[in-house]
Amino acid sequence: MGTTPDHAPPEGRARELERALARHAERFVELFGGARPRTFFSPGRVNLMGAHLDYNGGPVAPMAIDRGTYFAVRARSDRRVRLASNSEPGVLETSLDRLPAVRTARWFDYPLGVLRQLAAQGRASAGLDLYFGGDLPVGAGLSSSASICVGSAFVFDAVWGLGLQARERVALALVAEREFVGVRCGIMDPYAVGLARPGHILWLDCKDEQFEHLPLDHQRHCVAVADTLVRRELAQSAFNQRVAEAAEAFERLRPYAPQARVLRDIPAQVLAAHERELAPELARRARHVVEEVERTFDARAALLAGDERRFGAQMFAAHRSLRELYEVSAPELDCLVDAAQLERAVCGARLTGAGFGGCVVMLLERDGAEAALESVAQRFDERFGRRPAVQIFGPDAGPREL
Ligand code: GLA
Repeated sequence: MGTTPDHAPPEGRARELERALARHAERFVELFGGARPRTFFSPGRVNLMGAHLDYNGGPVAPMAIDRGTYFAVRARSDRRVRLASNSEPGVLETSLDRLPAVRTARWFDYPLGVLRQLAAQGRASAGLDLYFGGDLPVGAGLSSSASICVGSAFVFDAVWGLGLQARERVALALVAEREFVGVRCGIMDPYAVGLARPGHILWLDCKDEQFEHLPLDHQRHCVAVADTLVRRELAQSAFNQRVAEAAEAFERLRPYAPQARVLRDIPAQVLAAHERELAPELARRARHVVEEVERTFDARAALLAGDERRFGAQMFAAHRSLRELYEVSAPELDCLVDAAQLERAVCGARLTGAGFGGCVVMLLERDGAEAALESVAQRFDERFGRRPAVQIFGPDAGPREL
């Protein structure tokens, strides 16, 4: 990410993407030789509402963004597989008949996790050379891992002509991350990437996996991300701890709400009547979930009514709850959100992804967005002595061949 706001118009971004894929293809040829490979793009995502709700069975409202992962691929006439990424040196050489059974703790694990499933199902009909990597900051909460996993499923589908449905690719990505890479991720990220529709926010109810697309007026509004550049070593274990705490809060509350299947189902009155029986931090986690569900439904109604200000107010409220109740914020994230709240052009701002560092997402009016982002960056600089990486992201159409 650059350090200045990027206001490239959509056509400009399309040309940028073409150039980036051409460079990616050149690098592929340097690595593997031969003719120009096929090239693909798969987006990352921001989550605008529904923070830490996916693994609690609640609704989420993410949007795919026009930054993500590039793929260059060529099918082979034998069963060899060669993988390379732009994030680390070396080539992993293997064969469809002897794919690694344990993770390598490298970026290769993401496509490998998908490849292993398709090979086990007898659907991997030919070997291939694959070079992948992109322009999403890693560990920033923009879902580089789902971008790679869903993108890999899309690429393999295209190369082997499998005719998979979007939901099947999402399922392959989820199993790859959970069972091969070993992350207890929720369902939001692969859905956000795999079911994206241009210009829209995805509305996904994680309890029954029903989804629809909500329009966002991109003529008048835009989405920006400010990256604190803070990366916490312990973010993954802290995330897993929140998953465990939410599960425990649900176990404690469920006797009082026999119909409840997930924490999201616990009625606010039940929580109010029994939260004192829970350890204080478990009560805070449950309160965040129950209130965030209400906020997310209200934000949806606001969007459908064309009221981006009300949607944004729920983003600010979500951030306060993430700071005080779910306790996944950081001083750098709070500083950005507080600064954003002072700007007239900003409708709403909150941390995106799991938290503990990473990025703040903002919904802004286009008119005045540039000046607002500059002053948010300046306030952060005054406090922390460095500039955050700030960028406007366009919505994306999801994985595709280009
Ligand atoms: C991470 C996870 C998602 C979701 C968010 C919090 O990004 O990968 O599944 O739980 O945190 O909303």
